[in-house]
Amino acid sequence: MDSAVGRCREIRLRAYPDGMIQPSDLTIIETALPEAGPNDLVVRNRWFRISISTRLMANPDAQAVEGIPFPALRPGDRLADGAIGEVMACPPGSGFEIGTFVSHPLGWRDYAVVDAGSCVALGRGPIEPAAYLGHGWTAYAALTRGIRIRRGDTVFVSSGAGAIGSMAGQIARRLGASRVIGSTSTPDKADWMTAELGYDAAILRNRGSIADQLKAAAPDGVDVFVDMVGGEQLAAAAEAAREGARFVLLGALTAELNVAGASIVAPVQLDSFQLILKDVTLRGYSADRDSAEAFPEWIAWQREARLHFACSTVAGLENAPGALHDACEGRLRGLVMVEV
Ligand SMILES: NC(=O)c1ccc[n+]([C@@H]2O[C@H](COP(=O)([O-])OP(=O)(O)OC[C@H]3O[C@@H](n4cnc5c(N)ncnc54)[C@H](OP(=O)(O)O)[C@@H]3O)[C@@H](O)[C@H]2O)c1
Repeated sequence: MDSAVGRCREIRLRAYPDGMIQPSDLTIIETALPEAGPNDLVVRNRWFRISISTRLMANPDAQAVEGIPFPALRPGDRLADGAIGEVMACPPGSGFEIGTFVSHPLGWRDYAVVDAGSCVALGRGPIEPAAYLGHGWTAYAALTRGIRIRRGDTVFVSSGAGAIGSMAGQIARRLGASRVIGSTSTPDKADWMTAELGYDAAILRNRGSIADQLKAAAPDGVDVFVDMVGGEQLAAAAEAAREGARFVLLGALTAELNVAGASIVAPVQLDSFQLILKDVTLRGYSADRDSAEAFPEWIAWQREARLHFACSTVAGLENAPGALHDACEGRLRGLVMVEV
């Protein structure tokens, strides 16, 4: 907001994507900042998260889905996602202070008018934005509440270089895993995962059988599978499951990032007999839906855990549409964040 004129810039869906979402499907608009109501904060955004789920919600047939915290978008709608900003104005007695940071759900714009009830106070800083906006939280909740990890477990993380995956491998290790394997698409990313993220091995999708690569990387089988992908990777993990294996299913990128069009239908063929014989648990899980109360525990835990917050940070609101496209194309690593 230019305080003199009360204007702001925001990004809206211009047109439904045809296949992969393109930067030209989005548009940046300069507009009047909405008037703040009696319970609203005016926030200058500093960072916001880019989520690949935005592609799914920009589909013409997108529907509200429980567990997906994004509403379906229509052309002309403003985009939104987790953000951190500085309070410029707040109602007296609201408990917030001008000049402090808050997290809130209205990213994809430079200034936001946000209901105080949707804001969480983060103090004056300095802050690690990725700890609040990133998916270390999701991975931590999945590995402490979705399933329980045990000392000595062999863990497989699909999309191990992604926003959730780049944290899940590290967190699994801190929680006692003895061997951690992740999947990705390119040798470059695989090298980065073993060098920077602490994976013992990385396997490559679209470069030969996942089942064979997983067998080679985990010859004694897999105890825990953190799944962001579904499809062939879920089937391979089921084949490699050890007695008592625990699978936590967080996402289905095979459907969400399907080249032909985003979808919420992610079929997979599993050998159910083997699941029964090996006493395998499969749990579908959403961190925000199932364990929101554990977020403060994550914030305290990550301070001690010395994690590497893997981020692709893009500068400037105007570059956010390109960042969404690149994230969906698999060109970026870790959390994708815009510094406004
Ligand atoms: N349950 C929950 O609490 C929760 C919370 C947030 C998000 N989610 C869901 O979890 C999943 C992962 O989210 P994220 O934000 O961490 O995404 P992400 O893993 O960062 O997704 C982007 C990555 O997906 C990989 N990819 C691209 N196309 C693919 C394809 N056709 N098949 C398989 N992988 C492909 C690429 O990585 P590579 O190049 O390395 O393969 C790309 O960099 C999503 O489905 C998301 O909706 C769940």
